[in-house]
Amino acid sequence: MPTATLRIRRLNPDASPQPYWQDFQVEWGQGDAVLAALHAIQESQDGSLAYRYSCRGAICGSCAMRINGQAALACKTQLARLDTTKPIVLEPLLNSPVIKDLVVDQGPFFASLCSVMPWLDPGGRDPREPYTLDGLMGRNDRDQFQRSTDCIMCQSCFSDCPKRGQAPRFIGPAACLAAFKRIHHPQTPDATERLRQVCGPGGIFDCDRHANCVKVCPKDCRPMRAIVFLQRQAKEAGVAPE
Ligand code: FES
Repeated sequence: MPTATLRIRRLNPDASPQPYWQDFQVEWGQGDAVLAALHAIQESQDGSLAYRYSCRGAICGSCAMRINGQAALACKTQLARLDTTKPIVLEPLLNSPVIKDLVVDQGPFFASLCSVMPWLDPGGRDPREPYTLDGLMGRNDRDQFQRSTDCIMCQSCFSDCPKRGQAPRFIGPAACLAAFKRIHHPQTPDATERLRQVCGPGGIFDCDRHANCVKVCPKDCRPMRAIVFLQRQAKEAGVAPE
C-alpha cells in the first residue's frame, strides 16, 4: 500500500505552552480521506492525538482544519488528491485559540454568528405559513440565498479570512452570510433594520474582499458574494455608513 507522511502541529497546554511538529507515517488506499489517516494514527500510533469529527460525510462541519496551508474538511479531502511524495501539513484553524492539537475553541466563531441574530423571528406571523421566494428577489440574490442555506458552520472561512486576523472586530464571512440569509428570508419582517445593524463597525463594510472565504468554503456558499450583495443593498436602502 502507498504511504504518506502527516506532519501535524501539536499542542498539549497541560504539558507545555509550546506547540511542536510531529511526523506520522500512514498507509492509505483509494477512497481514504485525511480523516481516515488521523483515525489510523490515533488507533495505532498515538491515542492522545486530538481532532474533531462527527458525521464523516461533509455535513456537520466539525472536522475543519488547515491542510497544506488552507482550511478544509478532513473527511472530504482525499489523500489521492494530495501530493503524498511530500509531508501533508495539518494545523488547527486560524483566528481561534487552540485547545489541543487540531482542536480549536469555537467560542469566538459562534459569538460572531450570534451577533447577527441569525435565527428566524417571524414577528407574530405563523412560521408554518407556506412561503415562496418567487418574485421576492432577482435571480442572483435568490441563488445566493440558496447558497447561504447550505452553510454547515465549519469555520473554514472564519479561519482563513485575513481581515478577521488583522481586525478581530470584523464578524467574519460566515456571520455575514448568516445575516444575508436572515435579511432575505421572506418571513423576516424587519429586514432593513437588520441590514442597518450589519453596516456598523465590524460589519459588512469591514470586508477587504480577499476572497479566501470563497476559495475555502467546502459547500461553495460564496460568503464574499453575499457581502457584496448586502453592501449594494445597504447603499440602495440608504443605510450604508457615510
Ligand atoms: Fe462532519 Fe467532516 S466529520 S464534516
